[in-house]
Amino acid sequence: MRCFKNIAPVVLLASLASATLQIVPGATWTATNTGNHIQAHGGGITKVGKTYYWCVIGEDKTNGTSFQNIQCYSSSNLIEWKYEGALLSRTSSGDLGPNRVVERPKVIYNKATKKYVLWMHIDDSGYAEAKAGVAIGDTVCGKYTYLNSSRPLGFVSRDMGLYVDDDDKAYLLTEDRNNGLRIDLLSDDYLTVKQATYQWKDSIEAPALIKKNGVYFMFGSTLSGWDPNDNKYSTATNIAGPWSAWKTFADSGSKTYNSQTTFVLPVGNNFVYMGDRWVSSNLMRSTYVWLPLTISGTTASMKNAVNWVLDASSGSMTSGPSENVYEGESATLSSGAKTVSCSGCSGSTAAGYVGGSSAGAVTFSSVQSSATTRSTIRIKYLNGDSSQRHANVSVNGGISQRIAFVPASGDPNSSVLHADLKAGANTIKISTSDGSWGPDVDRLMVPQS
Ligand SMILES: *[C@@H]1O[C@H](CO)[C@@H](O)[C@H](O)[C@H]1NC(C)=O
Ligand SMILES: *[C@@H]1O[C@H](CO)[C@@H](O)[C@H](O)[C@H]1NC(C)=O
Ligand SMILES: *[C@@H]1O[C@H](CO)[C@@H](O)[C@H](O)[C@H]1NC(C)=O
Ligand SMILES: *[C@@H]1O[C@H](CO)[C@@H](O)[C@H](O)[C@H]1NC(C)=O
Repeated sequence: MRCFKNIAPVVLLASLASATLQIVPGATWTATNTGNHIQAHGGGITKVGKTYYWCVIGEDKTNGTSFQNIQCYSSSNLIEWKYEGALLSRTSSGDLGPNRVVERPKVIYNKATKKYVLWMHIDDSGYAEAKAGVAIGDTVCGKYTYLNSSRPLGFVSRDMGLYVDDDDKAYLLTEDRNNGLRIDLLSDDYLTVKQATYQWKDSIEAPALIKKNGVYFMFGSTLSGWDPNDNKYSTATNIAGPWSAWKTFADSGSKTYNSQTTFVLPVGNNFVYMGDRWVSSNLMRSTYVWLPLTISGTTASMKNAVNWVLDASSGSMTSGPSENVYEGESATLSSGAKTVSCSGCSGSTAAGYVGGSSAGAVTFSSVQSSATTRSTIRIKYLNGDSSQRHANVSVNGGISQRIAFVPASGDPNSSVLHADLKAGANTIKISTSDGSWGPDVDRLMVPQS
């Protein structure tokens, strides 16, 4: 059942200490043990055990669209993620072979067989096969055995999702490009598609289904390729219908804050919307847009946020803290780091030449916090390359963390740093000594408490 081995028995303490850890939608999210941007695109979250551990499972887009791995990361707070390994990896031939499409992996647990069941979209590079594949595993984040693929009940199937109802019946949510979006009942072992439950005539992909107080909510997007659109939802009190007409839930015209639904996660009595902000020209740099989703009666609504606070043990969701701002060009620049001009940056300047052969460093020496607590700091940066840059960040002289910075040019993007701050003044040093260039640092956004 566990998705990682060294589980510290301090769930309550961890939740208290994580008061100012934040979710920052659309930022670079570095896995704690890889130093790289998390690769779990088009994914979903599987909750493990009675205590609060989650695994995010999604697509590795490190090298573009072709299938590489289905990756698993674990977390006890839904904010700091550790890479656990690949559930499935590319094989020499077959469904998981070279130049294949394997998308939207989702994992559910079958209580009767005690197996984890993984369904995924299986296709050729031209999306002509349009099948759903299934694999099985003994542990959520371990290796899975790939079983087979098929067109559910004979219909084409592209984007897909899964839903397990209160009675343990499980459903495949499948986009049938010729006929609309479908809900199909799975067999008791969850390994085969048994019968049609409902079908919308509307063209909707990226499906995700939840239920609150007896009302089912199906979320999805209309069809606009990798580009975002105003995603929609439909409701019903019976999974077999009738289902309502589709309505938008984010601000109209915002294109769901530039994202596409992949999953909706229940946490306590609340729900987290999980979307992908795809960057089609360089899919590895696609980011994760997770936001609080308000469900009330038969209505769903969602506002945008730069940052917000999620208590994973209670499900409480609150707005982000107020922040102090520290400009890169006002920090101490040493070993070759120097001020560079940057039209999109605040003050039109940033700290540049970080890293390189002389290990240029930017040191912020009086970063204030009113509390001794673990905090999420946003590093606003630029990276004009087409691949990730990295830097090592040390807080108050402690052990360096390797942080990733996906490409960002023009306007700065954020990369998140989770670190222990002490009450009073803190020192944060950003550098790298491996000879590579780090990002240009525009500014640090630091929670006040
Ligand atoms: C980075 O910032 C630019 C400009 O603000 C924005 O258009 C883009 O969506 C951001 N990238 C990501 C991955 O969020
Ligand atoms: C990506 O491609 C590089 C170069 O071909 C290769 O070394 C690396 O293993 C690939 N990564 C994945 C995840 O397939
Ligand atoms: C896939 O494998 C499962 C488990 O062996 C089996 O029950 C199912 O019939 C297979 N489906 C297809 C389409 O071959
Ligand atoms: C950078 O951080 C990584 C990961 O914590 C660490 O292994 C490495 O030694 C650090 N490098 C430097 C130069 O501090």
